[in-house]
Amino acid sequence: MTSQVRGVQLARLLGQWHALPGRRRSPDYAALAAAVRGLLADGRLPLGVRLPAERELADALRISRTTVTAAYRELRESGHLASRRGAGSWTMLPGTHRVASTGLWTPLDDRDMIDLGVAALSAPPQLAAAARAAAEDLPRYLGGAGYHPTGIIELREAVAHAYTERGLPTSPEQIMVTSGTQHALDLVLRLALSPGGGVLVESPTYPNALAALSARRARITTHGLATDGAGWDADLLLGSIRQARPKLAYLIPEFQNPTGHLMETGLRERLVGAAHAAGTDLVIDESFVDLPLDDTPLPPPVALFDRHSRVISIGGMSKPYWGGLRIGWVRASAPQVQRLAAARVGVDMASPVLDQLVAVHLLAEAPSIVAARRAQLTAQRDALVGALAERLPDWRVAVPRGGVTLWAELDGPISSALARAAEEIGVRLAPGPRFGLDGTLERFLRLPFTLPAADLVEAVGRLAAVRYDLDRTGRPQWREPSVIA
Ligand SMILES: Cc1ncc(COP(=O)(O)O)c(C=O)c1O
Repeated sequence: MTSQVRGVQLARLLGQWHALPGRRRSPDYAALAAAVRGLLADGRLPLGVRLPAERELADALRISRTTVTAAYRELRESGHLASRRGAGSWTMLPGTHRVASTGLWTPLDDRDMIDLGVAALSAPPQLAAAARAAAEDLPRYLGGAGYHPTGIIELREAVAHAYTERGLPTSPEQIMVTSGTQHALDLVLRLALSPGGGVLVESPTYPNALAALSARRARITTHGLATDGAGWDADLLLGSIRQARPKLAYLIPEFQNPTGHLMETGLRERLVGAAHAAGTDLVIDESFVDLPLDDTPLPPPVALFDRHSRVISIGGMSKPYWGGLRIGWVRASAPQVQRLAAARVGVDMASPVLDQLVAVHLLAEAPSIVAARRAQLTAQRDALVGALAERLPDWRVAVPRGGVTLWAELDGPISSALARAAEEIGVRLAPGPRFGLDGTLERFLRLPFTLPAADLVEAVGRLAAVRYDLDRTGRPQWREPSVIA
């Protein structure tokens, strides 16, 4: 490993840092610091190497020394540079970050990054008022200890009411409030799956569900979804359940993440029948159920066809309202809810009361909030689909009728290479293989339409430029995105 990098060498590595297409708002020093961090993240600039003196780098880059000084200061503050007076500055990584093969490190302060790795909206305007109203409600709870393992009764009532409105009569005793849908899944797995237990999932599916399953050492089998048309192949899906008899099946029937597919009513009914016959419990993730677009009618909840407590539904506030609330829930039989609550005591005891009260206030305004979200998502989806058709016409896109993501079929097995190259010009992507188990799905890319239309159009423009570069320059060995949600 080189122990010192000279000014001209670093300048060469930095290349077009000044004019990266992703750069719009940040000052020169921040762009320079971000470019150095990018080199570190890629492994093109080793750790523990001594950077050139400020003046030397300024001369090599033909910029002012003050800019380099400010960039080095920012790198010191972010933990990417250690300096000793008179001895120089060495590259390092922040103490709390280690670079993992999945890419853990992320330049959090990069204001120019358009993050398409996370499929979630920013908070609705009603959130601040809901939080104030919740604070006013809080005194009603302050006389107690504040631990409510199944959730505060007001929220359980509101969630049960929403299920009942969807045609599935539900009592508050059948609801357990959790800290997000992901937490709900983890708790259900703790209760219902022993290590090595078989679980059937869709392919592609939600990566963090795969992570939860791996953490519980599940033996995962997959049902491949068609990219267009109905998505699930009824015969294959039911055949897999009958043959493999998995302990659990984890499915996302409403606007599946990432494909956006909606499971039709007939298959829902047959699925529950097959699961019961095979002794399989169904974990049905309803994260996107509130977000049909284009007036798409919703089939009844899968649990409507359940007569043997085979179906555990999970859902939450993150997609229609805000992920930062960390409120989700489980709908199951009352005895199952009691068992889950008992399991939870060994994990996190209960969800925060104040956050639950915020959720209660938001749910009280559900019709207007959700209608606005759907309108916003429709416009953003259309902007994304339009930009893709114009700039990347070789990609095949099935337009989803709900949810927040589309699943594009690319013009080659380039998804990971594209994601690495896109990161370099300020677009973070979740490449296809992140949604599967075995490194396949390289021909696919999930694109969320949760950002403002202008950002989506800008991102597609950058992707089109990078797509063209991939063909010309071969695949650059850059890193993968970190957080996907
Ligand atoms: C299918 C699915 N399940 C669960 C989650 C996690 O939701 P939460 O933020 O409520 O934990 C997401 C978020 O993207 C999701 O898409």
